[in-house]
Amino acid sequence: MFESADILNFIKALRDYGRYDFSNYSEKSFTRRVEKIMMDYKLDIPQLISKIKTDRNFMEQVVRDITVNTTELFRDPQVWHAIKYRILPRLASKREINIWHAGCSTGLEVYSMIILLNEMGMLHRCHIYATDLNTDVLKTAQKGVYSYRSISEYLENFNKVLCENPYNFDEHLVVTYEKYFEFNKIKDIFKVKEEFLNIATFQKHDLVNDPNPFDVSYDIILCRNVLIYFNNTLQNKLFLDFWKYLDTYGSLVLGIHESIIGPTSAKYEKRGLIYNKKVF
Ligand SMILES: C[S@@+](CC[C@H](N)C(=O)[O-])C[C@H]1O[C@@H](n2cnc3c(N)ncnc32)[C@H](O)[C@@H]1O
Repeated sequence: MFESADILNFIKALRDYGRYDFSNYSEKSFTRRVEKIMMDYKLDIPQLISKIKTDRNFMEQVVRDITVNTTELFRDPQVWHAIKYRILPRLASKREINIWHAGCSTGLEVYSMIILLNEMGMLHRCHIYATDLNTDVLKTAQKGVYSYRSISEYLENFNKVLCENPYNFDEHLVVTYEKYFEFNKIKDIFKVKEEFLNIATFQKHDLVNDPNPFDVSYDIILCRNVLIYFNNTLQNKLFLDFWKYLDTYGSLVLGIHESIIGPTSAKYEKRGLIYNKKVF
């Protein structure tokens, strides 16, 4: 559909005119996104580049189109069980807990965390930070309003994480999602209740270019299903960044299909699905 030199020119235009650096994104998925953008706007690469150079809003829109924003409530329950039974109990005696959701998309992962912390009686001691490159998804996250149809698929995960204990099958709690959400099936609205909004701090942040966004040490960093879109060089840079930003023995939570390989793996101890910072 286009030459690889075209892609390089496109990446250069986004870097020169928008300060966005996609040069270390995975080539395959990046190319697929660019092909879709070309089809959606009916523009070839030289036309896209010239519009990027002259139209700032268009350039920002293209950046939003490049990012993949799929997310779910309590996505991959086994990871949430690890957070609930392996990470959070270790933090039970800490007075202040810092949690960063890097690449938070529309915030369903963040609200999953808020709900879990509330059920564990730890929410009042937590600072929850959430960032993304895409400003549209951050607006949705702040409002906490979703489509009922899209959320209803994941309500089973809500029950699995909050009501079941895979380490003790006799334990079965009752928590209903009505405690946290208001919904209207006919209007297709599923909304986070007012009291659980404004707990997390949402902020635009670029994992490629920007430093630690909140200038604190984190007890938990979740960066799930973000690094799969990056190449090994960028992944390694981020594993090192996260290691620096984590508090002593802090935990890094990645997506279920992501793992730390390469030189930085020696800086973490892998415990099941969780990577704990090693201190030297
Ligand atoms: C597939 S979503 C993952 C959402 C959530 N973490 C989850 O697992 O459900 C990936 C998110 O990473 C964000 N992202 C991509 N590149 C980024 C970057 N350079 N800096 C910050 N966020 C980025 C995208 O905008 C998108 O919202």
